[in-house]
Amino acid sequence: MYDVVIIGAGPGGYAAALYAHNFGLNVALVEKDDRVGGTCLNRGCIPAKHWLHTAEVFTTVQTAGTFGVEAGEPSLNWSTALARKDEIVNGLTRGLAGLLKARGAEIINGFGRLDGPGKVVVDTPDGPRTLEGRTVIVATGSAPRTIPGYEFDGQTIVSSREALDWETQPQRVAIIGAGAIGCEFASLLADVGSEVYLFELLDQIVPGADTDASKELTKNLKRHGVKIHTATQVGPPQRTDGGVVVPYGDKSVEVDVVLVAVGRKPLTDGIGLESVKAEVERGFVHVDLETMQTAEPGVYAVGDIVAGTPQLAHAGFAEAIAAITHIATGTPQPVDYRAIPLVVYTHPEMASVGYTETQARERGLDVEVTTHGFTAVSRAKIIGQNRGLVKIIAEKDGPIVGASIVGPQAGEMIHELMYAVGWEALPSEAAAFIHAHPTLSEAVGETLLSASGRSLH
Ligand code: NAI
Repeated sequence: MYDVVIIGAGPGGYAAALYAHNFGLNVALVEKDDRVGGTCLNRGCIPAKHWLHTAEVFTTVQTAGTFGVEAGEPSLNWSTALARKDEIVNGLTRGLAGLLKARGAEIINGFGRLDGPGKVVVDTPDGPRTLEGRTVIVATGSAPRTIPGYEFDGQTIVSSREALDWETQPQRVAIIGAGAIGCEFASLLADVGSEVYLFELLDQIVPGADTDASKELTKNLKRHGVKIHTATQVGPPQRTDGGVVVPYGDKSVEVDVVLVAVGRKPLTDGIGLESVKAEVERGFVHVDLETMQTAEPGVYAVGDIVAGTPQLAHAGFAEAIAAITHIATGTPQPVDYRAIPLVVYTHPEMASVGYTETQARERGLDVEVTTHGFTAVSRAKIIGQNRGLVKIIAEKDGPIVGASIVGPQAGEMIHELMYAVGWEALPSEAAAFIHAHPTLSEAVGETLLSASGRSLH
């Protein structure tokens, strides 16, 4: 009998297995793939960030002349970049498997499904095996979804999964959906010279993002060559000898490949949730957010399958910690969803935490909004990336409730505002600390100072 049987070794599942070690829990980690790490490590966040970094190196070389460094016109050796992606992913998955073993988790290869509370049947290569657990954590993750007419064929209509493994650079790409995935691919492909068309149904890219931040990112992506069509519905694709024709409005565009990035669906079919009292709605599992426990005592769910929480690897980590803490101590230690940062790793990056201005106003908060650009930030000027903005939303005479940054290293800088939102700091309290000069973070420091009613530059 295990203390915990975990189904799925992605960020939710592997984090639960690792964290369980702190409490000396006896863990079985069931994984259907032949390697641990799930979507994030094998076919999501990590390989995507590799490709974005490749694009960044490419543009750095392309603009090197501006800095007096004569490097010539860069050319991208796609297969070398692809091999480096595999090398990074393989190294990290091997390292993770080693760490899990070192922490005493037993990794069991095979498809696992619940067979009543506390029982998981695994189809291992050697036949079915039944595991008994005092508790079970379901962390089976998600998969790309698509829209009618755009069924994935792995060649001309693909998801991010295949796009991360393209063997050659596509010259003309249509991307459907301008969420995090669509924007990141648009950014990297345009930067390395592909022709990119980005279609979004709603009226701004990254629809959940702050409107000003989204506008700023739109301007920057357009400057990098992405052709953005918001509030646009694409028609059924037509395959041609040259590729695929994507109709939109009264126009159409012919591309080599279509990347569909319209969201991800939870992977909860066939995993036996009906054998327990868990409540499932459109594939998402409802949990008590205090403990991550489903309606079946002792059965928990974490990560992308959880109803109503963000589909982010780091949210999965946090949910795993909450579930294990409850299993080990019986005391709830809920995730603080107010201050989970969201980073879109485009060039420039866009990052946010807490409420957007719209969300704050919709909640009836009387807010004050302060924005600051990067134009005069000396470090940004030195690195030739002084486009972007910092936007801080604070309650009138009250704490900071949200922030967005578009600009270089936005994904790193957002973390100081994460603390501000999490600790409900007043702008004046946060502004009392001094930022080093010259740094990119000074953009945040200046915004905090302005938000507290004073300003320097
Ligand atoms: P998403 O839900 O973030 O964005 C999908 C976009 O597609 C939305 O803007 C939606 O309005 C649009 N859309 C839907 N139907 C459409 C249609 N018929 N035509 C045009 N546009 C349409 O999903 P995405 O980008 O696929 O990412 C999946 C999940 O993974 C999200 O939860 C996302 O936050 C997460 N993720 C996070 C990353 C990050 O934090 N950097 C990176 C990649 C994914």
